Amino acid sequence: MGIYFNAENKHFYLESKDVSYIFRINRIGFAEHLYFGRRIGRENMEYMQSIGAGSTYTQMPNERNQCYHYYNPEICFYGTGDFREPTLMVNNPAGDRLVRLHYIGHEILTEKPKITGMPSLSGGRTLILHLEDEISHFAADLYYTVYEEYPVIARRIVYKNNSTDNFTLDRAYSFNLPLIRSDYKLLSLQGSWGFERAIQYTDMQKGVVSIDTKRCTSSATLNPFIAAVSPDTTEESGKAIGINLIYSSSYILKVEGSSDGKGNIMGGINDFDFEWHLSPGEQLETPEAVIVYSNEGLGKMSRAFHDIYRDKLINPRFVNKDRPIVINNWEGTYFNFNTQKLIEMAKAVNGLGIDTFVLDDGWFGHRDDDSSSLGDWFVYEEKLPGGLKTVIDAVHENGMRFGLWFEPEMISENSELFRAHPDYAIGVPGRDRCKSRRQYMLDLTRSDVRDYIVNTVNKVICENEIDYVKWDYNRNVTDNYTLSLPKKRQKEFAHRYALGLYDICERIVNGNPDIIFEGCAGGGARFDPAMLYYFPQIWTSDDTDAEERTKIQYGSSICYPVSSMSCHVSAVPNHQTRRSCDMQTRADIAHLGPTGYELDPTLFTDEDKELVKAQIKAYKEDRELILDSDLYRVENPFESNYFAFMLVSKDKSKAKLTCYRRMNSKDEIKFIYPRGLDPDKKYYIPERNQTLMGSTIMYAGLQPYFSPRDFVTRVFHFEEIK
Ligand code: GLA
Repeated sequence: MGIYFNAENKHFYLESKDVSYIFRINRIGFAEHLYFGRRIGRENMEYMQSIGAGSTYTQMPNERNQCYHYYNPEICFYGTGDFREPTLMVNNPAGDRLVRLHYIGHEILTEKPKITGMPSLSGGRTLILHLEDEISHFAADLYYTVYEEYPVIARRIVYKNNSTDNFTLDRAYSFNLPLIRSDYKLLSLQGSWGFERAIQYTDMQKGVVSIDTKRCTSSATLNPFIAAVSPDTTEESGKAIGINLIYSSSYILKVEGSSDGKGNIMGGINDFDFEWHLSPGEQLETPEAVIVYSNEGLGKMSRAFHDIYRDKLINPRFVNKDRPIVINNWEGTYFNFNTQKLIEMAKAVNGLGIDTFVLDDGWFGHRDDDSSSLGDWFVYEEKLPGGLKTVIDAVHENGMRFGLWFEPEMISENSELFRAHPDYAIGVPGRDRCKSRRQYMLDLTRSDVRDYIVNTVNKVICENEIDYVKWDYNRNVTDNYTLSLPKKRQKEFAHRYALGLYDICERIVNGNPDIIFEGCAGGGARFDPAMLYYFPQIWTSDDTDAEERTKIQYGSSICYPVSSMSCHVSAVPNHQTRRSCDMQTRADIAHLGPTGYELDPTLFTDEDKELVKAQIKAYKEDRELILDSDLYRVENPFESNYFAFMLVSKDKSKAKLTCYRRMNSKDEIKFIYPRGLDPDKKYYIPERNQTLMGSTIMYAGLQPYFSPRDFVTRVFHFEEIK
């Protein structure tokens, strides 16, 4: 396992767990892809080179039979007779856009170098392939990282100006991955506010299929994820190649099928409204793409993403640590609270097992609705006399830690900050800006604005006993323009916003290492791997209705682990859908991730309190399964009346199956077929007081016996009997 170079045939063999990735440097010096798939031997793979019908192709200069369009390229470039989508577009000092990147050398490193200013996976052996244009001296370093423990190859490209003149890039993608066939189905995760990451399939086609955002955020509309799956792929079988970008700003992922039955997947920073200037000696580092290969369906693909994110991306301080069980006041009070109300809420949950009280939006400036005060990170004294301290003391007296809401990237027009520094808000001088949720955005490309955010947020954190922060982000970027860049370089804005965001996260989140930060974006509109690097958990959606959540959590699990999906029990009728599901159903679905309650607990009856207490006690017993287990998606709510998630401990000694039925049907006899157990182990099922072999449970199945209502759950545990 690792990275091998055969100097004789110039083949590179990259081997991660179960996977081989092979390319070679061909006679002309181009990096030519040969194979990506299940692990194979280190053989001469020259026969994989695809030969097209030569006469229809454009030959390279001084070459009679060599056409770039023949090859499956590791990087595609323009102006060479390759008419496929290029991976980069570069404007040369002479005015032309030609580039021919030849191999000039490589390095194999035992440890992957970090990307400057951007999150990435840690660890992994890394190959850096150095390519350069011999005329212009424009260069690209292609990074490939392999992992012994995961079927993952991480890719990125660093574009370099090795000349003495200036270049601009119009496109600078992170990778190109050739596909040997073009009949894949493409799975992506689309959505909107309150309905994030719904699974959508489209066919690959001759031509380009792409997903992207132009919002300077990874967005609820399309997550930076795409998978190419064989037409017959299921949860358990078939080929699936999943690609997720560790990036939070405008991105693109493109899949191009060509007329000869092959294809390419490529992507990275969106080249829409993008341009990057490179002076002599400068370089542009691009975001990392995490590429998973599975020959055992979508299930194995997802588990590989979950494993590598837990082990190599999410902050090790928190990844396996019990997460807070919160009471959050947002849906209980919205902006309408005062010190007394918060203290009553804290008292009402005393003794139920909740360990953290989170004060949401409305505690700062003069904020009584969403029209004011963002940016004024000082306490609203008239609303909270005695400041946060009085609230925090009461929270502590009731046996809980304290969490606080911020929206650091925002500014309200009606704020002291805006009155003092209107230029801090993103916008074009002389033009009115667009508002969204009645707010503007701060210009994170400016270092003075970033310093303001870091200092004011850190001041509140330093002056108060805060154990948890919810970092919200409630709109998309408009009016893209910054005073920090000259006119000619305004198209660097979207990527520089991401770099600014990572800088303030680095300084606020990593600067307060004992505080757990939860990410949020008007629900789950910025649920991406780069955010997971800072926020071990992210608010999955503002839609807390259990029925809708089965789909949202199912779709999110395609690449994100359940330990990253923050899920709350809220009041009924649900505030987003007006649907009423009973308390146990809401808890069973919300207890499939870091959890909490988001309602007014002063309205709890004694019976409610007993129920919540029992729910939290049960949740605590399953915590390890939430944090670190293998997820098997057993029933798909997008396709049926049911949802079922099976969480199995890594040693297969413990498991939990949560089943849900949408609509009652008195005639239906339903069997659920759990997965992931050891067929040869015996398991005790406490809910049935029954002991069965793993094989029996999985192959004969279980009847959940749902109670005869709509929107109901049943939960089963499996404990190994030795
Ligand atoms: C967003 C979040 C909510 C809540 C509100 C507060 O919508 O997703 O959870 O924090 O903002 O304004």
